[in-house]
Amino acid sequence: MRVVITGAIGLLGRVATQCLVDSGHEVLAVDRAVGPVPQGVELRVGDLEDLSFVQETINGAEAVVHLAAIPNPLPGKEYGVFRNNVLSSFAVFNAAAEAECKIVAYASSLSIYGTAWSPEWTSPQYVPVDEGHPLVYSESYALSKEVAELTALDWSRRSNTTFVGFRFPYTNSAEDLLNCARLLKTEDPVFNPRAAKILWAYLDSRDAAIALELTIRSDLKGSKAYNFAAPETMASRSTESLLAQYHSHSILKGDFSGFQSPVSSDLWLNEMKYHPQFLIDRTMI
Ligand SMILES: NC(=O)c1ccc[n+]([C@@H]2O[C@H](COP(=O)([O-])OP(=O)(O)OC[C@H]3O[C@@H](n4cnc5c(N)ncnc54)[C@H](O)[C@@H]3O)[C@@H](O)[C@H]2O)c1
Repeated sequence: MRVVITGAIGLLGRVATQCLVDSGHEVLAVDRAVGPVPQGVELRVGDLEDLSFVQETINGAEAVVHLAAIPNPLPGKEYGVFRNNVLSSFAVFNAAAEAECKIVAYASSLSIYGTAWSPEWTSPQYVPVDEGHPLVYSESYALSKEVAELTALDWSRRSNTTFVGFRFPYTNSAEDLLNCARLLKTEDPVFNPRAAKILWAYLDSRDAAIALELTIRSDLKGSKAYNFAAPETMASRSTESLLAQYHSHSILKGDFSGFQSPVSSDLWLNEMKYHPQFLIDRTMI
């Protein structure tokens, strides 16, 4: 397929671009930053807030993988984060619908549930957190992700383009995830509360890339957003004991006596059947 990928120079974009190339797609990479792209891939440099630039870039594409965003609320710069993420998503979804793309797969975030970045300590109402959980954030990054999901819904209503969002957890390389797991095991006083805010959830970027690639070849319709996280936490203690310490008011709707993730990816797993395969090797922690 002819695929445009945004945010191609970023942490996740680099891995997803390579995955698309390896899967045989004709890939056009877009970013406002300059950096390496796989051989044979054109990098188009520009700002996705610019609708004309986005329309020119997406014209002729069959699918779009939209990853470009500022990936956290940057305290003190929240207006810039909101503007960048919301306008660039609107421009990409608008252009994809106009170009009659079959499908757009895009990155939302698990931050949308509010625990990760809200200034006040925020616990899930219940665990495992599924897509029906209320979105109770109080910061502009999560807000920008909800607006992006609503924008996708809007463009799905006025076109035949499908929009699939991924509420990714903390996503990074195997090496970084292993380092996080090791740090967590040391009961590091700074990292441990931080890990509690992201619900100890993680995903290897290779699994994120595979899920995005599978999505653009799928026959999903309409507009959907899925949680997609590893089935286990990055912690070395039981989820039950961690929840009791950090999120004691969350209602437990399941067995957390082991390392079970407090994030449910069942909706995605039931529909798409792809389970994360790159899990942290616990013998290495
Ligand atoms: N990595 C994670 O832990 C994580 C978790 C959940 C969701 N996400 C989402 O996944 C996506 C990718 O995240 P990442 O970690 O790779 O971030 P990243 O910052 O490494 O990469 C984002 C890329 O987008 C580009 N970009 C941003 N705004 C742009 C604009 N207006 N025009 C053109 N390019 C622009 C940046 O230059 C950068 O290369 C983001 O949407 C992020 O919100 C990431």
